[in-house]
Formats: sequence, C-alpha cells, structure tokens
Amino acid sequence: MTISTRNGANVGRIAPAVDPVGILERQQARESAARTYARTLPIVPVRAQGSVIHGADGRTYLDCLSGAGTLALGHNHPDVVRAITDTLASGAPLHTLDLATPEKDAFTEELRGCLPSGLGDDVKLHFCGPSGADAVEAAIKLAQTATGNHTILAFTGGYHGMTAGALAVTGNVAVKSPLPPGGSVVRLPFPHPYRCPFGVGSGPTRTAGPDGVELSLRYIERLLDDPLGGVTSPAGLIVEAVQGEGGVVPAPDHWLRAIREITRRRGIPLILDEVQTGVGRTGRLWATQHSGIAPDILVMSKAIGGGLPMAVIAYRAELDGWAPGAHTGTFRGNQLAMVAGTATLRRVRADRLDEQAGRLGARLLAGLVDIAREYSQVGDVRGRGLMLGAEIVDPSGPADTVGARPADPRLAAAVRSECLRRGLIVELGGRHSAVVRLLPPLTITPDQVERALSILADAIGAAVRSHPDLHVDESGRGIR
Ligand SMILES: Cc1ncc(COP(=O)(O)O)c(C=O)c1O
Repeated sequence: MTISTRNGANVGRIAPAVDPVGILERQQARESAARTYARTLPIVPVRAQGSVIHGADGRTYLDCLSGAGTLALGHNHPDVVRAITDTLASGAPLHTLDLATPEKDAFTEELRGCLPSGLGDDVKLHFCGPSGADAVEAAIKLAQTATGNHTILAFTGGYHGMTAGALAVTGNVAVKSPLPPGGSVVRLPFPHPYRCPFGVGSGPTRTAGPDGVELSLRYIERLLDDPLGGVTSPAGLIVEAVQGEGGVVPAPDHWLRAIREITRRRGIPLILDEVQTGVGRTGRLWATQHSGIAPDILVMSKAIGGGLPMAVIAYRAELDGWAPGAHTGTFRGNQLAMVAGTATLRRVRADRLDEQAGRLGARLLAGLVDIAREYSQVGDVRGRGLMLGAEIVDPSGPADTVGARPADPRLAAAVRSECLRRGLIVELGGRHSAVVRLLPPLTITPDQVERALSILADAIGAAVRSHPDLHVDESGRGIR
C-alpha cells in the first residue's frame, strides 16, 4: 500500500482486489438508462469508514455526498456496525412485517423521545415502505383521508421522491413531463433569494422595493382565499425546511412560521418533509426546530435508518382517521434498520452531532464564500449546517433583475469531475444541475472540512481554466 498526496488530496493506494473497469462496463451494459450517480461518479466502492471511501481503483475518496445525506454517522460507524452484528448474532427475526418486536419498540421509544415538541404527547407513528417517497405517499394519503380533500399544496423547487404521488408534488419538470399528471397539486412560490420567483430577491440580494419572502406569503394567502383562485379545499401543504435536491435553499425561519400560521388558520395539515434535513443535518436535530414550529405530519427517512432503508411518518393523533391497511407495504419491519436507526439517534444526541454540524457547516460555508470571492463563476453559496451548495454560473451572461447570472451546468459538471479526480465526492442539484452540493457525514472532521474546501477551490480553478469558452488572465483566473 502506498499513500501519495496530490493537489491537497490524500490519495491512498490499496491493492485492487477487483477489476473496477470491468465492473463499470458491465453495469453500463446491463443497468437502465435511468441510473444517475453511477454515470457521474464512475467509481466502485469496496470499503468505507467514516467520511472516506476506498475504491476498487485503489484510491481513497472523501465522501461529501454520504448516500445523498443518509449517513449521518458516516460509513460503518462502530455503533451502527455493533447494533447490526449483535442483532444478527441474536437470532432475532429480520423480517417482521409490521409486527411488534423489541427492536421496533426500542426504536419507537428513542424516536418519540426526540421528535419536535408540538406534535403532541400522543403522537402517532406509521412505519412505511422503506423509501422516503413511500413516506411522502403515506403523508399525503393521511392528510387526504383526514380532511376529505384532495388538493395538495407544494412548492417550486420542491423534491419529494419518484413515486406517482411524491412526483406530483415534486417540482422537477423534466422527470414529470413524460408521465401523466399525478394528482391535484397547486404549486406555490418558494422563497429563493438568488433565483427569486418574483425577480426581486430577498435578504442580501434585495436591492430595493418588495421582498420576495413577503411576496410569497402574500401570494399564498390571497390565492387560498380567492374564490376564483382555482384552488379547491386543500388536503395539506408539503414543504422542506431546506430544499435539498432543489439546489440547497433554506426556507427563512420567519417564512416557515408564517406558513404554519397560514395553514393553521385554514385547517390545512402542514406536512414537513425532513427526509433529507432530519437527524441533525442542518444544525438542529430537525430542521423545523430552527423556526420553532411543529408540523402536523413529519416525514422521515434517509438517516433515520442509520444507513439502512427505513421510512416513518409521525403525526398528530387527531389525524389518525385511517382504516386498517390504509397504507401497507411488505418491507415495513426492517429490524436491522431499526437497530441501526436507534444507534444513530443515540450517538447523534449523545455527541450533540447536530450542533457539531452547525459549527462545521459554518466553517464550510465561510470557505465557500471565500471561494466565491475568488471565482465569479460561483454565483451564490448557501445552505444550513452540513447541507451546502455553490451555484455555478456564467459570469459573462446577462444578469437577471436580482443580479443572478445564467446557470452553467457544463462548468458545474466539470467541477464535479475535477473534484473526483482529486479524491472528493460531491454531487450536483438544483435548477439545470448547476449547484455543487456538499452533504458530508455529520462526523466529518475539521481537517477533512479543510481538505474538502481546498480540493473544491482547486477543482473550480481547474474546471474554469479548461472550460472551452474561457481564457485565463495573468493571475490565472478564468475570464471569457
Ligand atoms: C426531501 C426529500 N423527500 C423525499 C425524498 C425521496 O426519498 P427516497 O429517494 O428515499 O424515495 C428525498 C430524496 O432525496 C428527499 O430529499
């Protein structure tokens, strides 16, 4: 084994035991055209620990994707591994439908002990099929059943999953277009300072005049109360406290509080999708805690299963109008996910990893701000806790009314590739896939944070210099 350091990246070498090229070629030939990460991150992971993945190519990678935000404790955390191996050794049944088990009982106890206050002491849980999308489906059906209404209110930029109902409330036009409409959904404007739906900005991007956050609230209230507004009585409103796939857009706390008020006054159940933000990622255990509001239905998946598939909704008891079997699924009793989830929640709470995510996220964000000062191709940086994004733009393109330049997806893709070449795994998201996203484990170390920043800065520089429409000035900065 040799260890070499290149471009600030610690590129460890381990003896390859498998042929990565053959594996990748077979995957490309045999798997569907819909595969995603496999296209843009052509690596074959063989071992992993914490924030580091070892590839079959003999290299090590700093993982700032962590299973799309799933691995709160990183790869193979000892607590999670112990919980799983102990359960396997105990002879406990691994598949139990929705039967009661000691493992499920312990998980339920742990989860109930840390849910946002305000959901009520008699909060109900429903274990769903193991994906976030299935939990979103469950939340929508629960709200529809409880209210007798069908229409769901959802936001521009929102992402809630790929099954029919979840896709209907998702904003992504490209994936929706080939399919029939998935239900009665009314789209509302999510406040976005940089890609402002009203073109006026908010917070630091607002120059003068109206504020995008205020306009969003005013529009929503007036629309809901307009007898000619076209919105039939809503069954629920679904929202993310920080839009993740939509390009890392935090909802302002005061906006979320106002949304809570608007829904409460009209008897509309508020569904908070914390599939990606939950379990400490944004600097609080639940992102909703930043604003202090409590939803009526909380949707959880990803980190809640400690890296194994699990999805749960928690909701106010008075919504529990479901008949037996109203939302079933064969895989609702994943015992290994339950023990892994219990171990994860305990470790996050014991070590205050949510607060650590807040601190490390602040450092990461400050580093991104510095990079944005250096490169005009980084149009905006934003996020909360360890859920961060840098939007890559064409600085020579026309500025919109907020001053935002056109997205540059090609350059963003080049940045991702240059990161990977240097041993850093990041993904893209947001409009036109132009936002470089950072979602490291909450256990990432301060040194690893610095390394991620230095690789990212290097990678952006390299991508800018090799971008086809660019030439480089004397200082080495890319200009068009
Ligand atoms: C906010 C949010 N909701 C729902 C989902 C869907 O989860 P899954 O991919 O497990 O179906 C995701 C996935 O990224 C998500 O980020």
